Amino acid sequence: MFEVPLRDNAHLIPLEVWHAQEFAEHMDRAREHIRPWVGPAFVTTGVDEARGTLSRYAERQAADGARIFGIRLDGTLVGGVMFTDFSAAFGNCEVGCWLEPSAEGHGLITRASTVLLDWAFTTRGLHRAEWHCRADNDRSSAVAKRLGMTLEGVRREAWPFRGVRYDKQVWAILAPEWKVGSGKP
Ligand SMILES: CC(C)(COP(=O)(O)OP(=O)(O)OC[C@H]1O[C@@H](n2cnc3c(N)ncnc32)[C@H](O)[C@@H]1OP(=O)(O)O)[C@@H](O)C(=O)NCCC(=O)NCCS
Repeated sequence: MFEVPLRDNAHLIPLEVWHAQEFAEHMDRAREHIRPWVGPAFVTTGVDEARGTLSRYAERQAADGARIFGIRLDGTLVGGVMFTDFSAAFGNCEVGCWLEPSAEGHGLITRASTVLLDWAFTTRGLHRAEWHCRADNDRSSAVAKRLGMTLEGVRREAWPFRGVRYDKQVWAILAPEWKVGSGKP
C-alpha cells in the first residue's frame, strides 16, 4: 500500500506475508547469486518457504524488531533491504540487503539503505547501525563504505560456506556520524 520512491522507476515497499508468491518468483531469479553471501535460511525455494521468511519478519516487526522491505524496479521485485536486527531498547540495529543480478549497479541498495538508516537514526533515535558481510564480498563492503560506515573489525573465519570458513567484516555508523542525506546517490 505504501511505497517510497528510490528513483523514477524504483520503489521501496514493506515486504509482507501476502507477497509470498512474488517473493518466491524473485528468489528463483536471485537464489544462486545471493547464496554465498547471505544466511542460509534466507535462500528459500517455493512459496511456502518464502512465506516462512516473510512470516518470521512479520512476527519480529510486531515486536518492534527486524523488518524487511522490497525494491521494485519497473514494477518487478528485484531485491530489498532489511533490519536483520533492531533494538530500540539498546539503540542498535543491523542492516542487510540483497539483489537479483539484473538490478545490480544502479545504486538501489545504497539509496534504500539510506532510507532505513534515516528512519533508524532520525525517526527512531537509534544510536548505532551495523553492516555485516563476508570479507570477500566487495560489492557489499562498497555499499557500507558509500553509506559512510567504518570498518570496525573482522571476525576471523566466522562464516562457514561449503566447507570453507570465511572472515566476516563488521561495519558500523553512529548517530552523530549520520547526516540526513549522506549516502544518497
Ligand atoms: C551486495 C549487493 C546488494 C550490492 O549491490 P550493488 O548494486 O553493487 O549496490 P548499489 O545498489 O548500492 O549500487 C552500487 C553500484 O551502482 C552504481 N551506481 C549507479 N548509479 C548510482 C548512484 N546513483 N548511486 C550510487 N551508485 C550508483 C555504482 O557505481 C555501483 O556500481 P559499481 O560497483 O559497478 O561501481 C549485490 O551485489 C548483491 O545482491 N550481492 C549478493 C547478495 C549479497 O551480497 N548481499 C549482501 C550480504 S552482506
